[in-house]
Amino acid sequence: MHWRIFFATVICVNGIHASGILYPRPSESRETLTLDGIWKFAIANRTEQNKGFKDKWYAAPLHHNVEVIDMPVPSSYNDITQDANIRDHIGWAWYQRDFFLPKSWKSQQVSIRFGSVNYYAVVWINGVEVTNHSGGYLPFEVKITEHLKFGHLNWITVAVNNTLTPWTIPQGKIVYHNDSQRYPAGYYEQQYNFDFFNFAGIHRPVILSATPKTYIDDITINTTSVTDSLGVIFYSVELGGSKIAAYSVIAEIYDAQHRLVAQAKGLKGEISINNPNLWWPRGMNESVGYLYTLKIQLWNDAKNVEGDIYRLPFGVRFIEWNSTGVYINGKSVYFKGFGRHEDAILRGRGLDLVTLTKDYNLMRWIEANSFRTSHYPYSEELMDLADQQGFLVIDEVPAVGLDNFDDELLEAHMQTLKELVQRDKNRPAVVMWSIGNEPQSQKQVSAHYFDTIVKLVHRLDSSRPVTLVLNKPSSQDVAAQFLDVICINRYFGWYSDTGHSELITYQMIKEVTAWHEKHLKPVVVTEYGAGALAGLHTDPPVVWTEDYQVVLMEQNFKAFDQLREMGYLIGEMIWNFADFATPQEYFRPTGCMKGVFTRERQPKFAAHFLRRRYAQLT
Ligand SMILES: *[C@@H]1O[C@H](CO)[C@@H](O)[C@H](O)[C@H]1NC(C)=O
Ligand SMILES: *[C@@H]1O[C@H](CO)[C@@H](O)[C@H](O)[C@H]1NC(C)=O
Ligand SMILES: *[C@@H]1O[C@H](CO)[C@@H](O)[C@H](O)[C@H]1NC(C)=O
Ligand SMILES: *[C@@H]1O[C@H](CO)[C@@H](O)[C@H](O)[C@H]1NC(C)=O
Ligand SMILES: *[C@@H]1O[C@H](CO)[C@@H](O)[C@H](O)[C@H]1NC(C)=O
Ligand SMILES: *[C@@H]1O[C@H](CO)[C@@H](O)[C@H](O)[C@H]1NC(C)=O
Ligand SMILES: *[C@@H]1O[C@H](CO)[C@@H](O)[C@H](O)[C@H]1NC(C)=O
Repeated sequence: MHWRIFFATVICVNGIHASGILYPRPSESRETLTLDGIWKFAIANRTEQNKGFKDKWYAAPLHHNVEVIDMPVPSSYNDITQDANIRDHIGWAWYQRDFFLPKSWKSQQVSIRFGSVNYYAVVWINGVEVTNHSGGYLPFEVKITEHLKFGHLNWITVAVNNTLTPWTIPQGKIVYHNDSQRYPAGYYEQQYNFDFFNFAGIHRPVILSATPKTYIDDITINTTSVTDSLGVIFYSVELGGSKIAAYSVIAEIYDAQHRLVAQAKGLKGEISINNPNLWWPRGMNESVGYLYTLKIQLWNDAKNVEGDIYRLPFGVRFIEWNSTGVYINGKSVYFKGFGRHEDAILRGRGLDLVTLTKDYNLMRWIEANSFRTSHYPYSEELMDLADQQGFLVIDEVPAVGLDNFDDELLEAHMQTLKELVQRDKNRPAVVMWSIGNEPQSQKQVSAHYFDTIVKLVHRLDSSRPVTLVLNKPSSQDVAAQFLDVICINRYFGWYSDTGHSELITYQMIKEVTAWHEKHLKPVVVTEYGAGALAGLHTDPPVVWTEDYQVVLMEQNFKAFDQLREMGYLIGEMIWNFADFATPQEYFRPTGCMKGVFTRERQPKFAAHFLRRRYAQLT
């Protein structure tokens, strides 16, 4: 009783085809093998950057060619050793390890998937280049079946390059210093347009996965309407591999107690769920983060055998937005949360499940309901917990501080947005796409640029609002006109009128009012804050003390309360959740100190103060 698919369909989202990047989840038909662990590692000599390519380091054990050290994957390589040359390395770094495969994988289709490698990666399996990828914070995957050996050792080599240019996302540049009075010949440094440390390396899990030769390549699931008695979802499936026509597709929906609640057949269609448990963010309903599971199963009718199976968690929730706000399941949302960084001691930007879990515990303790993935997409492991715990996520690409707006940059920017939407489109926690942070949006050329980007994201996904985080004066900015929601960063009493806390309330009210009146759009203050060294106190408060951080917050809160009353403001996100690493600067005592928690995740006075406020805000 299964309907057959007579043709192979490739689903295109409004003409934009992207192949799937489903997280590798084991099932009855799928197995995974992690390549996380200790790899061999070497950085390229600063003066002979291409030696590894010339001498084919990927074709032999790395230690035959160069002195190697141990390097954990996932992690950033910067803070692991005692060597400042490795911490500050610019250019190529090499990773290698070996592995065996289970015999049972011989008849399977095998892929390798990197959660993220910053910034550029080239991958060889057994000496053969299998893929390369640009962009430091999103996953990439490639089929490697034909390059694998069974019953023999396999080698994987990864070359990683953290060099940023005016055409990478984010941007940077290599500056050669020619002043021979001060610099030796050939001296150069990497400069970049952002103030967080450019951690580098294999940052997220490396996973081998085996699927049947005909496999589920992608799934899209989408809530199209909700009422208390009915939730309607739309799903579509994309298949890959051989003999697709022999298979039919069965879609089943299970509730959180693993009970079958609805089913359908075919590559795509609508499914109704009676009396749905809606996905609610924290604080808006007694039920928070309810997830169903969509089970997609392939069935070979002729042979009467089951094929590939994939289970995808999803939430039933509907987003709307207009000039007054963003609405989840018909209820208006007030964002109370954080700008953050994926930043862990010693691991840098590397996935750290301990820090990640602690951070959620702290965000729940402080009664936040949201965060922005400033200034790059966070790990899928982190995003899973946002879905489960009901945090609202403003999902941002690494387009931070953009200062030129040519076609080459536009191309790279669009590519990172395509990859982000492809990765996170099914996540209930993601309620807004952020296309960047603090661009030079006073430049006229940026108007066409951002118009193009916003149109692309709406084409990729019309179900979520699009924002861009701005910091130019509203009178000069040319980008806000294209956005659904306006996000602004403002440091009154810190970067401007330093120490003058008496001006903060006045200036913030003027500021948000100006943006709202110009565009008639809801505004979120995505950054405000002050640096504070834990344990430093004065009274009356001066900048850098914990006392001043709290006074600055208090003055901002007065403005936020009034602006909310006026109907202009739909959220406040303090900068930052925790202290984090930055490039070395004389005004950065080991990093950015604007956290309400320290880098060790202990509360400053500000954390207790913020908790009192967030507990009262609904
Ligand atoms: C880098 O290469 C140069 C030129 O071959 C050599 O003189 C130098 O010792 C090398 N540096 C390191 C750290 O290996
Ligand atoms: C990698 O690094 C070198 C400098 O170390 C740079 O010249 C080169 O353009 C980079 N290559 C890529 C593909 O990013
Ligand atoms: C990266 O991959 C593309 C497409 O497969 C290929 O054309 C290109 O030569 C590769 N680049 C490098 C540096 O290996
Ligand atoms: C160094 O010289 C190069 C080539 O003349 C020039 O492009 C570059 O701007 C100079 N760098 C600095 C920091 O002046
Ligand atoms: C919570 O949401 C459900 C729908 O998911 C709704 O039936 C219920 O009335 C809501 N509870 C409150 C207190 O609003
Ligand atoms: C905005 O949408 C909400 C929810 O649908 C609705 O209640 C509100 O009246 C709308 N406001 C405007 C100005 O359209
Ligand atoms: C979700 O569904 C809506 C309406 O059917 C569609 O416009 C939107 O593009 C879909 N989003 C994704 C990510 O497919």
